[in-house]
Amino acid sequence: MLKPAPTAGDTDWFTHDRFGLFIHWGLYALPARHEWIKHREEITDEAYQKYFDYFNPDLYDPTEWAKAARAAGMKYMVVTSKHHEGFCLWDSQLTDYKVTNTPYGQDLLGPMVEAFRAEGLKIGFYHSLIDWHHPDFPIDGIHPLRNHPDALEMNKDRDMSKYVEYLHGQTRELLTEFGPLDIIWFDFSYPGREYRGMSGKGRDDWQSEKLLKLVRELQPNIMVNNRLDLPPEMADVHTPEQYQPREWLRINGQPVVWETCQTFSGSWGYHRDESTWKSPEQLIKMLINTVATGGNLLMNVGPTARGVFDDRALAALDVYARWMKFHSRSIYGCTQSEFSAPSGCRYTQNEDRLYLHIFDWPFKHLYLDGLKDRVKYAQLLNDASEIRFTPPRLAADEAGDALVLELPVVKPDVVVPVVELFLA
Ligand code: GLC
Repeated sequence: MLKPAPTAGDTDWFTHDRFGLFIHWGLYALPARHEWIKHREEITDEAYQKYFDYFNPDLYDPTEWAKAARAAGMKYMVVTSKHHEGFCLWDSQLTDYKVTNTPYGQDLLGPMVEAFRAEGLKIGFYHSLIDWHHPDFPIDGIHPLRNHPDALEMNKDRDMSKYVEYLHGQTRELLTEFGPLDIIWFDFSYPGREYRGMSGKGRDDWQSEKLLKLVRELQPNIMVNNRLDLPPEMADVHTPEQYQPREWLRINGQPVVWETCQTFSGSWGYHRDESTWKSPEQLIKMLINTVATGGNLLMNVGPTARGVFDDRALAALDVYARWMKFHSRSIYGCTQSEFSAPSGCRYTQNEDRLYLHIFDWPFKHLYLDGLKDRVKYAQLLNDASEIRFTPPRLAADEAGDALVLELPVVKPDVVVPVVELFLA
């Protein structure tokens, strides 16, 4: 079976555990209409200040979040320590634009790390390279002030080297004040994006090589993602977002460690009026499709400004909880199979265990090409009931080298039924 190229950071646990929670939380939870609202509506710092002045998640209890994630079968979490708006969820000594200066008045990140660790989950920090609040961050094509008539003039007073010092300083804080971390998730580089004479930002702007060196020195085992605009082989994990790769991601022809990050409804931040919530089928099939092509799934929740997961998010997590209760071993420790699945199905495999995920429930028989004489026993995973392999009497010679499963007419009452095949 395929194995990903080795990485500098520790990815062994990651490629075993396969499923994590992404948390996008910040001041954007108050306007509740997308985490890029400051960009989309070209909001000035002055006008955005009200969200800071009213930020007070009084119902915040990270243990509830951690328990919901664990019940859903998630094994790690990645939270936005700071998103593009520049607001910090911890008591950084390098800025006043932080939660401890809001009406809430306390650190959010420390209790969150503790609560998730207590539930046995691994911990990652998403940290934005971009900062739409920092006075030295030069205005560019995605900055909220990109269309301001004096943008170029204003940039004369902005010193990127001071911003880089801040960025590296906060990275040091995050990697020294919260114990051993498992993932650092930087976001994002856009070197080629020219706009009104203002250039995009990439490795030279962030001093990415120096930043990566700092990260590896402070936490040698940590996983670093691929958004620093450095050569791809320097990253530990590759991160396609909001689309489902058709096959295992490769760099220079080599399969690599990858993770697709997805949302429940489109926006990463809490979006009150968004109605494009994924169906239970989409949610479960997304996880299966990802592992069947050798990847990890990082599923996102945007908590509300009261500090809770809203009912729609809890319902979506519960879809995972009810399916993973019976099917988690077809995900953990599994990867892309050496066999090709019949149409309307997917395979995941863990050594001599092959998991057939049936998306389209057939009538009575399913032909598994190439598996004749390769399977000792088969059962439905949700109830461990035996699945026999007896080709239809009148079509025995049609089977060729296929193993023919005899399935119940009625589809089991689970979102995606799975047959566990014990290979000979
Ligand atoms: C995109 C979004 C950003 C989000 C990130 C997560 O870059 O623009 O808001 O944090 O994806 O992958």
